[in-house]
Amino acid sequence: MRKLENKTVFITGGLSGIGKACAIAAAKEGANIAIADRERGINIKAMEEIKAIQSKAIFIECNVSVYTQVEVAVQKVISIFGTLDVALNNAGIGGKPGKISEMDEQSWLKVIGIDLTGVFYCMKHELIQMEKQKKGVIVNMSSISGKVGYANSAHYVAAKHGLIGLTKTAALEYADSVRVNVICPGFIDTPLLNKLDLNNQPQRKQLILNKHPMNRLGTSEEIANGFIFLACDDSSFITGAALNIDGGYLAQ
Ligand SMILES: NC(=O)c1ccc[n+]([C@@H]2O[C@H](COP(=O)([O-])OP(=O)(O)OC[C@H]3O[C@@H](n4cnc5c(N)ncnc54)[C@H](O)[C@@H]3O)[C@@H](O)[C@H]2O)c1
Repeated sequence: MRKLENKTVFITGGLSGIGKACAIAAAKEGANIAIADRERGINIKAMEEIKAIQSKAIFIECNVSVYTQVEVAVQKVISIFGTLDVALNNAGIGGKPGKISEMDEQSWLKVIGIDLTGVFYCMKHELIQMEKQKKGVIVNMSSISGKVGYANSAHYVAAKHGLIGLTKTAALEYADSVRVNVICPGFIDTPLLNKLDLNNQPQRKQLILNKHPMNRLGTSEEIANGFIFLACDDSSFITGAALNIDGGYLAQ
């Protein structure tokens, strides 16, 4: 028996990087997949790859920072599949870097709007449904930046710390029926990280690698392995946990 056979798995930001790897892993475990992402046009090939594994996979255009779009997206999942068994609130952006005194209000609001408020919107609508079902699993995507500071990224760090608090609170509120956990990845080789253009800055890349005792970047598949564990019954007594998948970054 596969670990997510016939479960409905809703993944935000599932057309790229970590979200896409989680969608592929869940599809291989037998899940029906609903991807919510900004625009299909950005990465139509990703949806084709997921559909090649699970023909029932669907795409919903949704900006997670817009309340009504999230509400409609969750409703759509339920109207198509009938249930919402697992939600992965993964969509996120890095934001424009800068010290706090130099950070403009718009950059702050944009990152908080997607990375923190967007997850609240998703959790709210997912939990309305999971309360009705009296069961469900939620996994949020924080970061090592949810547990320690990172210079020049106050918006991102604040949002990712906030996600751990949201996760713990939801775990307490719904402990009788819904498990809620959060993953804290180290630096993972994805299109988001590519925006840092590290391959053209070998010294900066080495500094980042040095912060990981394993001296390498993680892969999206390594995060997906953690997601599947938290999503399925293998983690049936785990709720409110923040799982580091970080090559030892936070052990220091
Ligand atoms: N890559 C890393 O090193 C790393 C480390 C720690 C945490 N994370 C977190 O993992 C998550 C995924 O990151 P990734 O590296 O795979 O990034 P990515 O850029 O490859 O993928 C992010 C996805 O989210 C979508 N997205 C962005 N804003 C959205 C919005 N407003 N509404 C809906 N979809 C939106 C994008 O279209 C994209 O498909 C993010 O929350 C990120 O903060 C990444």
